[in-house]
Amino acid sequence: MKYYLTTPIYYTNAAPHIGHAYTTITADAIKRLKHMQGYDVLLATGTDEHGVNVERAAQAMGKAPLKYTDTISAEFRRQWEILGLSIDRFQRTTAPNHAKVVNEFFRACYDAGYVYKGNYTGQYCIFDNAYVNDAKPGDPCPDCGRPTETITEENFYFKLSAFQERLLKLYDDEPDFIQPESRRNEVIAFVKQGLRDLSISRTTIKWGIPVEGHAPHVFYVWFDALNTYRSAVEKDNAWPADLHLIGKEILRFHAVFWPAFLWAAGLPIPKKIFAHGWLLFENDKMSKSKGNIVRATPIKNVLGTDALRYFLLREVVFGQDGSFSYDALIQRYNSDLANGLGNLASRTLAMIQQNCGGTIPAGPGDPEIAEAAAATVASSLESFNAFNFSKGLETIWALISTVDKFIVERAPWKLAKSGDIDGLNQTLYSAAEALRIVTALVSPILPESAAKIWAQLGYQTTLDAIRVADLKWGQLASGQTIEAVTGVFPRADAKVMIEQMKEGEAAELARQKEMLGVAPAPAAAAPAAADGSGQITIDDFIKVDLRVGQVKSAEKVKGADKLLHLHVDIGEAEPRSIVAGIATAYEPEALVGRKVVIVANLAPRKLRGLTSQGMVVAASLEGGSPVLAAFIEDVPVGARLK
Ligand code: MSP
Repeated sequence: MKYYLTTPIYYTNAAPHIGHAYTTITADAIKRLKHMQGYDVLLATGTDEHGVNVERAAQAMGKAPLKYTDTISAEFRRQWEILGLSIDRFQRTTAPNHAKVVNEFFRACYDAGYVYKGNYTGQYCIFDNAYVNDAKPGDPCPDCGRPTETITEENFYFKLSAFQERLLKLYDDEPDFIQPESRRNEVIAFVKQGLRDLSISRTTIKWGIPVEGHAPHVFYVWFDALNTYRSAVEKDNAWPADLHLIGKEILRFHAVFWPAFLWAAGLPIPKKIFAHGWLLFENDKMSKSKGNIVRATPIKNVLGTDALRYFLLREVVFGQDGSFSYDALIQRYNSDLANGLGNLASRTLAMIQQNCGGTIPAGPGDPEIAEAAAATVASSLESFNAFNFSKGLETIWALISTVDKFIVERAPWKLAKSGDIDGLNQTLYSAAEALRIVTALVSPILPESAAKIWAQLGYQTTLDAIRVADLKWGQLASGQTIEAVTGVFPRADAKVMIEQMKEGEAAELARQKEMLGVAPAPAAAAPAAADGSGQITIDDFIKVDLRVGQVKSAEKVKGADKLLHLHVDIGEAEPRSIVAGIATAYEPEALVGRKVVIVANLAPRKLRGLTSQGMVVAASLEGGSPVLAAFIEDVPVGARLK
C-alpha cells in the first residue's frame, strides 16, 4: 500500500529556518510512522523558485535568478540532509520535467474549457503572489501588511467560479479532507462567499514557466508550484497524494484552488490537507526585521536533532500555533528525554548488566505492565494517526513513569539480595520489554536516539524492520545480550547549552548571509566621529534636510531596470526631479499621490541624462526590495523631519 505525503515547496528568496524545519520534520516523522504501519511511503519536498519576489531578491544580490535559486535550493536540500530527514523526492520548479508537467496540465484545463483569456487590473501583493480582492491603489496587503501594487495585464483566467458547489460538496462529503476542523470551517466560509475566476498567467513577469505557444505569458506561481506535488512523483505513479502537510497561511491555495485545478484537468484530488499552526519565537512572530528567526542546525549541533524533533512535536499541539524558546527546549530535554526516556533506558540496562550478566532474563513479565504497554500502544498510535503528536507522546511518557514507579516499588536490588530470582527476572524483563516497546514506538519521532537504545538492547537488526505487530508484549527474546550502556541523553546545563546554541545561531546566520551574497557589515559602517565613537552630534544630523514630499508623477527610466524618474512636490515652486532606485519594488502608477521622505539638500547629480535633485528615503532590506519610508498620520507637504 502506498502513502504519498508532501511538504510545501519552500520559496527560494530566503534561507531555511526552524519554521520550514518544523513542517519537514513533522513530515519525516509521519513518513516513519506510516512505514512502521506497513506502507510504502514517499515523501516529497522541494523549492518554489519563480515569481517576482525571487526575481527581485536575485536582482538585489546582482545575480541571475537561476544562479540565485540554485544556491538557496541547494541550501534547503543540505538542511534536510543535516537534520537526517528521509526525503524521497526533492522537486524544483525550475526543473525541466516540471515545466512539461505544468504545460500539460494547463492544456488539459484549457481543452476542457476551464481557461479563457481576459484583461485584469488589480492590486497585487508581490510578496504573497496574490491579487488582493477589493483593494484600492495604495492599500496594504491584508495578509502581510506590505503595500499592494496596481497591475493591469492580459491573463489567462481559470474558471474557479465553476467549482464553488463542487468544492462545498467535497468539504461536506469528506469532512476529513481539510484538517483541523477549525481550518475547514474557515475554508467553507470563504468558498460560500463566492469564488471569482482566477488569473493563472502573467505577462508582467519574466521569471516564470513560459506558457507554451503563448509568449510572453508565464504561469502564475501557484499554478506552477502546486503542480510540483505531481511532477515530484511523475515516475512513481504515486498521485494522488495521501497528505499535503502545510502551514495555515497557504490553506486556501491547497484546499480551494488545487482541487479545482485538478478537477478541471480531469485528475484525482489529494486525500487530505492538514494545515498546521505557526511556530513563534517566544510567542512573537518570527521575522527578518525583528531579527528573531531561529535556525535548526545550531540546535542540532548542541542537543541533537531528536531534541528538536521531540520539542516541536511534544510542546506544540499540532494544528495550533506554538512557541519556541531555548529555555523551554532545554526544560523539555532535561525533564522528558534525559530524566524520562534516557533514565529508564540506562537504569534498566544497568540493572540487567549487574544482576543478569548482561543477558535479558526470561519473561513473561508483569501482567499489569504488559496491559499498560498494550493500552499505550493502542492509544498513542490512535493519537499519532490523528496527527496529535503531543498527546501521543504524553501517553507514551505516562507509560515511562508507570514503569519507573514499578521499578522503584519492586526494588530489584532488594529482590537480588533476598535471592528472589524469579521476582528479579520478572521485574527486569518487564522493564526491558517496556523499554523495547517504548523505543520502537518513539522511533518515528526520535529516530537517532531510538536506534541507539535499540542497539543497546542487543538488537543487530535496525528499527527500520519494526512493524506495528512487533509492538505486542513478550517479543523481547530472553538470552539476548545487551550492549555496553552509555547515556543517550546526557543532562544539559541550561546556561552553557543556551549560550552555545546562541553562538551557533550567530555563526549560522553569518554563513547564510555570505551564501546569499550579503557581505557582513563592515566594522566601520557608522560615520566616523571626531572622537572615534562612531556617533554624530545633533549639529551633524541637522545638516541633512529631510522633507515630506508628494509624488506628482512617476515613470520608468528607459534602459535602467532599477530606476524610476519622479517629480516630487516638497512645497517649492516646482516639483523636484528625482531619480530613485526603486523600480524593482514599485510600479510607477502606485506611487502617484504617495507621501515620501526626501533628502532635499543633496548636491544635484545626473543619472541616465536626467537631473536628480534629491533622494527618496527607503529601507534597504537584506535580500529584498527597498521599502519607502511613509507616515501613518497625515503630514503636510514640505514639513521638515527632525
Ligand atoms: N512556496 C510556497 C508554498 C508552495 S506549496 C505548493 C510557500 N513557501 S514558504 O517558503 O513561504 O513556506 C511556507 C511554509 O513553510 C509554511 O506553509 C510552513 O509549512 C513553513 N513555515 C515557514 N515558517 C513557519 C513558521 N514560522 N511556523 C510554521 N511553519 C512555517 O509558502
